[in-house]
Amino acid sequence: MRNTILAVVFVANVLCGVLVYFIPDLGNYILLIIASVLTLLAIYDAFLQKKHSLMRAFPIVARLRWVFEEEREKIQQYFIENDLNGRPINREKRSIVYQRSKKEIETVPFGTQHDVYAKGYEFVKHSLFPYDYRKVKGDRVLIGSDKCIQKYNASIINISAMSFGSLSKNAIMALNQGAKMGGFAHNTGEGGVSPYHLQGGDLIFQVGTGYFGAGTTVNGKRVFDDQVFRENALRPKVKMIEIKFSQGAKPGHGGILPAKKNTEEISIIRSVEPFTRVDSPPNHDAFSNFEEMISFIQKVRDLSGGKPVGIKFCVGDNDEIEEMIKTFAKVNNYPDFISVDGGEGGTGSAPLEFSNYVGTPLLDGLVFVNKTLKKYKLKKQIKIIASGKAIDAFDVVKYLALGADAIGMARSFMLSLGCIQARECNLDTCPVGVATQDEDLVEALVVKYKNERVKNYHNKTIDAVKEVAAAMGKNTISDITARHVFRRSRAGDIISLDEIYER
Ligand SMILES: Cc1cc2nc3c(=O)[nH]c(=O)nc-3n(C[C@H](O)[C@H](O)[C@H](O)COP(=O)(O)O)c2cc1C
Ligand code: SF4
Repeated sequence: MRNTILAVVFVANVLCGVLVYFIPDLGNYILLIIASVLTLLAIYDAFLQKKHSLMRAFPIVARLRWVFEEEREKIQQYFIENDLNGRPINREKRSIVYQRSKKEIETVPFGTQHDVYAKGYEFVKHSLFPYDYRKVKGDRVLIGSDKCIQKYNASIINISAMSFGSLSKNAIMALNQGAKMGGFAHNTGEGGVSPYHLQGGDLIFQVGTGYFGAGTTVNGKRVFDDQVFRENALRPKVKMIEIKFSQGAKPGHGGILPAKKNTEEISIIRSVEPFTRVDSPPNHDAFSNFEEMISFIQKVRDLSGGKPVGIKFCVGDNDEIEEMIKTFAKVNNYPDFISVDGGEGGTGSAPLEFSNYVGTPLLDGLVFVNKTLKKYKLKKQIKIIASGKAIDAFDVVKYLALGADAIGMARSFMLSLGCIQARECNLDTCPVGVATQDEDLVEALVVKYKNERVKNYHNKTIDAVKEVAAAMGKNTISDITARHVFRRSRAGDIISLDEIYER
């Protein structure tokens, strides 16, 4: 094959040379240049470069493979994927976010594309007496246990943690302004509070293991610092604090900020070396057992002036989680909320094994935490915020029915900002300026248009939740329980989520 390719380009080159000799016009000169470049490339591929065996065996032709590999995602998304098989978020779900964000037509023609007889198909049952959706209540939830002084009246849908660093400054500004316009909360992510978060929207200040915005570096180690934390926690727009243990996409691993995205500005906010990869440790330095953890929660609550303090994790070892909740009951002190993240959760950057194989999927984790809180009679004190691919109103209804009090959404809000699921968030090449620090790309995202979309997506999804509740004959969203959501089993019959998960 190698010799054939070399022979073909060589002959083409000679023919072009002859053509130019007899008809020396511009077109033929261009042909000769192309043929000469191809000949040189073939010689380089076949003899000079030694790293790629495929290129040595198939000069020039092997390069097409790299081009297709590079463009595989786009080819898949534009030409091959159908409405339901795209991952991680299929086209049907992406489209509803775009439509709601842009206030475009959001109805579908001709009937469902889902196979309603397939195993795993889920649905809710409606009533013969639907309610007026505009009168449905329960789109806000009061978060704060009896240990908290400044309870927060939260929307049932909020923006889940994503840091400035992982996202661009324009993305953060649009999210925060959208949160302000729509009256919901925006989680800072573990990178701390940046000026771009301070656009007037309510904030959930996340404290990760790197203590960015909540700590200092001592002998090269990040440690919690009361003063630094207090300065941020006491900001009026900070409504709640979230102590992060893990996130579903990389539980037990700790955050990763790729070197390219760790710009001068971000490194100052995080007090780290610029343009180096920043790995947060997998565990907290401030405590090492459940009793110490509860003391830390109380300390953080006190330092913030009594604001609600929550913990975020993806469920791992069930016994460990039960032991923790049991300790809450024993010492009669606890967080005000638990954010349960599913193993299917998103990330800017994570090791493959952790993304694919570590951590309990949301439904199982959520049900377990809910059951355990009930077992230790703490469900009234500790609210649950669930996150993991909540995109449309059915996702929200399902998670609320299984025990969540509110929902955190990350990737759907990225989609509302214009994310096209190019999946380059870890490369700093995000083509739409959402997950990059490249100045030119960041400029592509115009805050004053995207903030509106963030608000629209939130508000329209809340309306859709109310419409589904109303169709079910409910006048309050929280009246929907696991008894009202159904799934087709392997045997083909229909079982309520209550029967599946409460057994
Ligand atoms: C770009 C990106 C950055 C994230 N950064 C954080 C973070 O700083 N802290 C955190 O706890 N979770 C982080 N997450 C996880 C989300 O907060 C959320 O828990 C997870 O993506 C599940 O929600 P989703 O399915 O709606 O995306 C990040 C997710 C994405 C996509
Ligand atoms: S467009 Fe691609 S790179 Fe940008 S945020 Fe979306 S998935 Fe990440």
